Amino acid sequence: MSIRILVLGGGGREHAIVKALARSPQAPELFCAPGNPGIAAEATCLPELDPVDVEAVAAKARELEIDLVAVGPEAPLVVGVVDALASAGLPAFGPGASAARLEGSKSYAKEAMAEAGVPTASYGVVSDRESALAEIEKTGAPVVLKADGLAAGKGVLICMDEDEAREAIEVFFTERRFGETEVVIEEFLEGEELSLLAICDGERAIPLAPAQDYKRIGEGDTGPNTGGMGSYSPVQIVGSDELAELSALVHQPIVDLMASRGTPFHGILYAGLMMTASGPKVLEYNTRFGDPETQAVLPRLVSDLVDLFQAATRPGGLADRTVEFSDEWAVTVVLASAGYPASSSRGDLISGLDRAAEVAEVVHAGTAERNGEIVTAGGRVLNLTGLGPDAATARERAYDAAEAINFDGKQMRRDIAERAVRRERDQDSI
Ligand code: AMP
Ligand code: GLY
Repeated sequence: MSIRILVLGGGGREHAIVKALARSPQAPELFCAPGNPGIAAEATCLPELDPVDVEAVAAKARELEIDLVAVGPEAPLVVGVVDALASAGLPAFGPGASAARLEGSKSYAKEAMAEAGVPTASYGVVSDRESALAEIEKTGAPVVLKADGLAAGKGVLICMDEDEAREAIEVFFTERRFGETEVVIEEFLEGEELSLLAICDGERAIPLAPAQDYKRIGEGDTGPNTGGMGSYSPVQIVGSDELAELSALVHQPIVDLMASRGTPFHGILYAGLMMTASGPKVLEYNTRFGDPETQAVLPRLVSDLVDLFQAATRPGGLADRTVEFSDEWAVTVVLASAGYPASSSRGDLISGLDRAAEVAEVVHAGTAERNGEIVTAGGRVLNLTGLGPDAATARERAYDAAEAINFDGKQMRRDIAERAVRRERDQDSI
């Protein structure tokens, strides 16, 4: 009988995970909660099951005789879904709640980095307005203020001068936009950003292919932050020989630290890096796959994802595993609905999905089915991943697919992976 896997989540990242699991030679039987209409083509969706209802997840996993649960988003990790499943004797891919604090609390992550000797921006933690003002007096500007808890990427305020920093302090401590929270005040770093993820088995971290994502809504990195408007992989600034070195700097010391604390890290450790003039520095950790990086990274994975997930749930289980990627390029373009990121639109009819699928991987993020047709149902609606032997070809395919799709108010950035294509041209002309 084939292995039965339940994936938690229902966005583009989870669709990309489901697609990669479906390619496994083990031919797994796949379930996804809640899933979405795209995922439904490859897995049995459980739209009623809420991933953060940990008891319900454990009960459903038992009922369906699930062999492995793979957790997509951070929220179920932080509330302890992996711990609840472990107590029920069910293996799950992802960290327990204690290790997920690396993402759930920015001050916890900063303190862990300091102890493990991981390079990061210098920082202070404050919990009231007066201490915050005093800290700004000390640091000056530019400076970055971050709410301590999960804020879906919205809790980070970058302040270019001291007036902006003082306004930000009011946002945190007078307006309390992010609730009662501690605030990390840290040094502003300059450089190119890089997402480097590693798969971890409690003892060891093995890096995945590097990616870059595009956080702002507007071309040229302008406008408000979003969940991510596109991504690509690989990234020319990290050669495959430098990957192991970089992972030894930013992943392994944290995996070692968590093991020594008795809260071993299993799952995906995502390091958000700034490649500064004085070397790579960690901006943040996430304890799960990135969205939309996963949509560009996993289509390039050659190794069996089912086997890697299973191995990573066992202490030291990855010891004899390698993680292989193809030489292909992948470029992911996100289509967002009208109003995103301030709001989002629902129920707009989507056309052109079949045509798009002829040139690219079509990943559903925020879609719904209505009378047999696919409509928008969220901010980020669809992700189109073009693959090709070089960045230019992969990019062209992603945009051909993106153009083939239509719905009212469709938004996309037109500069995804432009930088990679420019570097490729510069390389060719040397
Ligand atoms: P985070 O959620 O901590 O990754 O922050 C979100 C985004 O804010 C990052 O992807 C960066 O673009 C930016 N950012 C965060 N911290 C810093 C920093 N210390 N210096 C410059 N930019 C930062
Ligand atoms: N792409 C950024 C994130 O997943 O947090």
